[in-house]
Amino acid sequence: MTDLPTDRTAGSGRDPLIEVRGATIGYHGTPVLAAVDFTLSLGEVVALVGANGSGKSTLVRGLLGLAQVTAGTVELFGQPLGRLPDRTRLGYVPQRHHPAGVVPCTVRELVGTGRLPRMRRLRPTSAADRRAVTAAMAAVGLADQAGTPVAHLSGGQQRRALIARALAGSPEVLVMDEPLAGVDQASQEALAEALEGLVGRGATLLIVLHELGPLAPLVTRVVALRQGSVVYDGPPLPEVHAAYGGDAEHHHEHGGVELPGLGLRAPGGPNGDSD
Ligand SMILES: Nc1ncnc2c1ncn2[C@@H]1O[C@H](COP(=O)(O)OP(=O)(O)O)[C@@H](O)[C@H]1O
Ligand SMILES: [Mg+2]
Repeated sequence: MTDLPTDRTAGSGRDPLIEVRGATIGYHGTPVLAAVDFTLSLGEVVALVGANGSGKSTLVRGLLGLAQVTAGTVELFGQPLGRLPDRTRLGYVPQRHHPAGVVPCTVRELVGTGRLPRMRRLRPTSAADRRAVTAAMAAVGLADQAGTPVAHLSGGQQRRALIARALAGSPEVLVMDEPLAGVDQASQEALAEALEGLVGRGATLLIVLHELGPLAPLVTRVVALRQGSVVYDGPPLPEVHAAYGGDAEHHHEHGGVELPGLGLRAPGGPNGDSD
């Protein structure tokens, strides 16, 4: 593939790294999201928010080819989905569904699996692979846990190890699905610090979040989903969160808030936070 843009500065204009236009995305022919427009440009930190079941994971999975795109277009790095020759450009940390399910290996081994897509088959790891793994562990603050079995880590440390695994592949965009879910407060802060370091180095992030929490200072744009549609796309204003944060659908009793530029009334009130 000689026509693949290899110039890493190519996106430094406003060329989106991810561009979704009028997309219908779902499973087995049943749409979950309809008419979705979404872009992610170089250096952005976008929070994808919305109530449970609103389609956040499905949108993210659509970008990765893990959910079906039945209408519209999805382009990654200027290439239609499915024609992207180099999947390593997009790093992915899936939503955690099985808190107790931990593979029996050390942190270094887990993070090392993030290099596999970049390694030639049946070749031993190169110095570059080992450097990337060490750098990824350091980036999430787990350098001193390299030899620790993953099972001995706290939930938050395990999430950081999974992020390091994605980072080890040196992706240009890192997509994380609810990285803070089920993680205690101290670990959330450690995670936020790790992500702050990445953002400081110009990382482009798409983060599915229940609430912005400790990541609020990093977020440059919020995209809110409701029942499979984008209902907000703009700056991270507090009232957007109150209206569309993860618990919004459970707060009808608070009445609605007016959202700028949308001309619609959203369910939920300003007191959606539980703490
Ligand atoms: N693998 C799947 N097959 C069929 N339907 C699914 C699958 N995953 C999610 N769904 C459905 O898609 C809708 C949106 O789910 P999801 O994208 O996981 O929402 P969120 O991440 O915002 O909680 C839900 O109704 C869910 O039941
Ligand atoms: Mg989800």
